[in-house]
Amino acid sequence: MSGMILNERLLNGPLVSLSCELDSRDNEPPLDKGLIPWLGHALEFGKDAAKFLARMKNKHGDIFTVCVAGQYITVLLDPNSYDDVLYDTDSFDSRRSKGLLMEKVFSLVLPSDNPEKERKWMEGHFQGVGLDKLQSSMDSHLRDLLLADQRGCGTAQWREEGLFDLCYGLLFRAGYLTMFTRDENADAVYKQFRNFDKLLPKLARSSLKGEDKKSVTSSQESLWQLLAPALLEGGRDAGCWQESYQRYLGEAGVDAETQRKALLMHLWTTQCNAGPAAFWSLALLLRHPEAMQAVLAEVRGVMHEHSLHHPTHERLVTHNTPVFDSVLRETLRLTAAAFISREVMADGKKLGVSGGLEYCLRKGDKVLLFPFLCPQMDPEIHQQPESFRYKRFLNDDMSEKRIFYKGGSRLKHYNMPWGAERKGCVGKQFAISTVKMFVFTVLRHLELEMCEPSDPLPQFNPQRYGFGMLQPIGDLCHNPSLSHSLSLSVALSLSLSLSLSLSLSLSLSLSLSRLH
Ligand code: HEM
Repeated sequence: MSGMILNERLLNGPLVSLSCELDSRDNEPPLDKGLIPWLGHALEFGKDAAKFLARMKNKHGDIFTVCVAGQYITVLLDPNSYDDVLYDTDSFDSRRSKGLLMEKVFSLVLPSDNPEKERKWMEGHFQGVGLDKLQSSMDSHLRDLLLADQRGCGTAQWREEGLFDLCYGLLFRAGYLTMFTRDENADAVYKQFRNFDKLLPKLARSSLKGEDKKSVTSSQESLWQLLAPALLEGGRDAGCWQESYQRYLGEAGVDAETQRKALLMHLWTTQCNAGPAAFWSLALLLRHPEAMQAVLAEVRGVMHEHSLHHPTHERLVTHNTPVFDSVLRETLRLTAAAFISREVMADGKKLGVSGGLEYCLRKGDKVLLFPFLCPQMDPEIHQQPESFRYKRFLNDDMSEKRIFYKGGSRLKHYNMPWGAERKGCVGKQFAISTVKMFVFTVLRHLELEMCEPSDPLPQFNPQRYGFGMLQPIGDLCHNPSLSHSLSLSVALSLSLSLSLSLSLSLSLSLSLSRLH
């Protein structure tokens, strides 16, 4: 599941409630049980995992074990040791964590467990020929939805709307139309999905109360129903992703009820990250005029080099966009924050860290990697890690910068928004091309203007650490209206008009955060 690699000790703590009574043995990572019996650090962890883990790292270093709701979690923050966990699938298993979480959040228990087969099936859709088909469909849906949403909105007709809502709404609906090929209920699905996604971190942590509990159940049931007719009809497009997934599940002996639940899980996995990634990309560009100007130059190059009849995704394949590529890497470095969780399969399993130290792990414990903290926000690797530097991943000759060091050693893992290598995001290429198409389409069709250029960005919602892309608290307010400009011009005030029969004007006022 996308980015939602939450350790399940928060989910099934009572079953292992005695484990926090244990003391550290020789050669084990430093143990921090917290002050509250059994709960340990659960409250601090759930409130703001990044802040808590940064505090523990300062106290104990790159490896330590904490007690959270009755279980031990060994947190590893040394990127030089990540491969020892990610590639040793005999000693570190991801299936149990994933299975428990699927059950907890999606009420989903799949009868057979064949991750290799499922991964291969997913690669068939999200890579190679499957990828071309998805990109082309996504491109036309994005353009159509963007223009349709703004139709009927004249220059004098201002309406308030959030930039996050715009990005998430458009990318979700375009993604849903692309993968589920159903247009009659996209708006209804999106409405329920946003509510479900908003409450999902609390659902996973079992901390939902009262109205929220009812609300998440109601959205979940609505989504199962909204996805159900497609199930019965077998979808509209015989070759589409949803139809293929149903066939795959059917062949694996999965019943209709379970198929609906699996569809919701995949809807969330495939749609929950691109919208927030597009939002942060645009928001950071608006906050950094120099970066915006450099990206706009690439937009003009891409959009003018060939005939306007060529689809955006085709032009992006033939045209290099090194500045935007670096902007996206930098955006994801700052805002992608998934956990990678594994279960230790053998007692006494040894794990080495930089400096030659070796630690023993216990069977059944969890090992948690949090690339957001290290490497992404590590000041030894990235200078001023909280600053947005749009050329951070760019060499002087405009090639991609891939050389980064920590403690004098060159790093393999210096930015990990897509998670664990081979078992990481299977939709990575599709996600990159989708966010790029979206940003280029928006910058081509819209006029953007910040009302308060000095205002900061919204803060991160700290509940979302561990669940993939971070989301803002609140939104950036903007007022879109149609502009009838047909020529491309970029004004100093960050307003932009691009050649098109229809273009929009956005007025953005930013409220703020920790990014600079
Ligand atoms: C910027 C956007 C995205 C980011 C940052 C992102 C990140 C991630 C991460 C961190 C994981 C977990 C990897 C791990 O376990 O190590 C993941 C899994 C996954 N992602 Fe993405 N993702 C994005 C967009 C997408 C898109 C657009 C799709 C497909 C349409 C997609 C499909 C998947 C799937 C199917 C998995 C589960 C893979 C598995 O279980 O083997 N992702 N993603």
